[in-house]
Amino acid sequence: GKICVVIDVLRATTTVCAALDNGALSVIPVRDVEQALSLQKEGNLVGGERNGIKISEFDFGNSPKEYTPELIEHKKVVLTTTNGTKAIDLSSDAKEIFAASFANISALCAYLKSSDLDIVLFCAGWKNRVNLEDSLFAATVMHSLSDYCAPTGDSAQLLSQWYDGLDNNLTRGKILRNASHVHRFEKLGVTDLEYCITDDLHPVLPKLQNGELVDIHS
Ligand code: MLT
Repeated sequence: GKICVVIDVLRATTTVCAALDNGALSVIPVRDVEQALSLQKEGNLVGGERNGIKISEFDFGNSPKEYTPELIEHKKVVLTTTNGTKAIDLSSDAKEIFAASFANISALCAYLKSSDLDIVLFCAGWKNRVNLEDSLFAATVMHSLSDYCAPTGDSAQLLSQWYDGLDNNLTRGKILRNASHVHRFEKLGVTDLEYCITDDLHPVLPKLQNGELVDIHS
């Protein structure tokens, strides 16, 4: 009966926003590589990663920059990632499921403010562990909704209090400087951090409908 917002800032839900904003008809999140490969055999474009690294047979990795209009316009894209698409799969009992990141934060918050359903901010994290970037996004959303609803539950209150105590001069880049996935990016030569922490690059509202994420932003 709730809205579930799935958050994987680095990079699955940023990639979903980029793909839909760049003209993909839908993004189909799947849990396994095998499932993705069988959908590829049926003629679909397939993207994603494991441990940050592109699967060799796939058409795309998981960089939002790869999903350009020339390659994906009017097409469906199948996506499987280490944590993000798993979190979407685990959300399936929710009344409404959205994918969100800084790339669509204003569109998301406007929608959440207009709804009277309870909201779950589901941070995908890294392999069942908390991560800093998804937590920062969830805290930013809670801050933006603070005139509309209050955080309940210990993890939401913890994040809110942490966010309120942050030095206003700290940039997102500085807050995330020692995030584990930022270090992983450095090792892999991935240069998507700045892109993924920029507000409103892709003002879409990806909602899961019949197993496909489609943009419902009007
Ligand atoms: C994830 O699902 O955890 C991310 O896609 C990882 C990544 O893109 O590096």
